[in-house]
Amino acid sequence: MDVFEIHGGNRLRGTIQIGGSKNAALPLMAAVLLTEGETILRNVPDLKDVELMGELLAQLGVSVRRIEPGILRLRVEDESNSHARYELVSQMRASVCVLGPLLGKRKTARVAMPGGCAIGFRPIDLHVRGCQALGADYDLANGDVVLKTKRLAGTEVFLGGPFGSSVTATANVMMAAVLAEGATVIESAACEPEVADLAVYLNACGARISGHGTPRIVIEGVDALRGVEHTIIPDRIEAGTFMIAAGITNGELELAGARLDHLVAAVDALRRVGVLVKRTDTGVNVSAARRLEPIEITTQPYPGFPTDLQAQMMALLALADGNSVLTEKIYPDRFLHVAELNRMGAHLRKEGPTVIIEGVKQLVGAPVMASDLRASAALVLAGLIAKGRTVIQRVYHIDRGYERIEEKLRAVGADIRRVKT
Ligand code: EPZ
Repeated sequence: MDVFEIHGGNRLRGTIQIGGSKNAALPLMAAVLLTEGETILRNVPDLKDVELMGELLAQLGVSVRRIEPGILRLRVEDESNSHARYELVSQMRASVCVLGPLLGKRKTARVAMPGGCAIGFRPIDLHVRGCQALGADYDLANGDVVLKTKRLAGTEVFLGGPFGSSVTATANVMMAAVLAEGATVIESAACEPEVADLAVYLNACGARISGHGTPRIVIEGVDALRGVEHTIIPDRIEAGTFMIAAGITNGELELAGARLDHLVAAVDALRRVGVLVKRTDTGVNVSAARRLEPIEITTQPYPGFPTDLQAQMMALLALADGNSVLTEKIYPDRFLHVAELNRMGAHLRKEGPTVIIEGVKQLVGAPVMASDLRASAALVLAGLIAKGRTVIQRVYHIDRGYERIEEKLRAVGADIRRVKT
């Protein structure tokens, strides 16, 4: 398994091209199951999770071809298999995004119930409840969610859960509703840009969706959808991660293609810490004042501070001049990075869903273990500034959601290399 070896202390300077959004690409690929004809997706990131979704879609009768770097051509060729098996689904929770389109187009779906993962319990009760509201019969058979129906009829669906809205449940119910008879209203829908990008693609295919990007989405059912060309939005979490890289190394980065309007809460937090963020013609320019201020942050559904930047922000605040408080409201157990950062000299104390971050003058390199995608990114950020050598094990977690992160960082001055072991 590959490791990353990092020698900390270099200030990052230069330009990084932000790639396409992983969390937009995955539901967009699944949405092709709803369409006739060919879809061309552009700005597709080259990630392990995209590869896994391609393999899953192939099992479901979709031809998936990478016709050029960053460009996929997808077309449904066979609708006979609608069973997403445990072997693939257990590797990637986002596989659940095939549930809605399979039900919407084929009126049947069998998807292995996703297991838990490093960031905590990941139920799909809202996904199932939304599909049942549209008329699907639900059964749990040998660990698989089975949904079947003769017809789907539009209705009002409330998708608010104990932790707020659900991103992929909103995507699934929207995709199940686009070919249903009549209108569906989703209340307490997720407002994430990735959900809005999915609606833009579906509307271009002939769907009639409005309100996407707001908590109330209305879907008027139509008879059929035809594939189109679509360019995926930039990855706001990758952009946010590199903003923090500029801040933690006291460097200056131009993030080409980044969209500030997708990161308002994160930029607000970074500015309060003392990281300077400016819009430019090609993207976003980020630099840092020498001194980092402590702040209080709570993660929220979009447009609040994203849980997917929580770990990375914790690495930055570990070096702030005072005590910060970070509360995780989406995944209360999403703290596997805390122990690893403490191994590097951070002073972090977990109190339930809150971590008290006592700023220290310096982090020190150490051998650490990646656990989930964003926790691993936090360890890379800490390694960029820690004194001496940091070795991060199990970097396959990072490869799931960051395209060649070590190459992008090395190109702007980081002393980081991938070592095959
Ligand atoms: C999406 O996951 C993202 N993944 C996650 O990014 C992200 O952390 C999460 O949204 C929150 O922003 C993709 O888009 C592929 P949720 P999702 O359903 O849709 C609870 C990354 O690092 N919930 O919005 O699975 C759930 O337990 C990944 O790129 C229910 O209770 O997340 C959580 O506490 C990690 N019942 C909260 O809602 C349900 O049926 C939000 O989860 C569904 C979710």
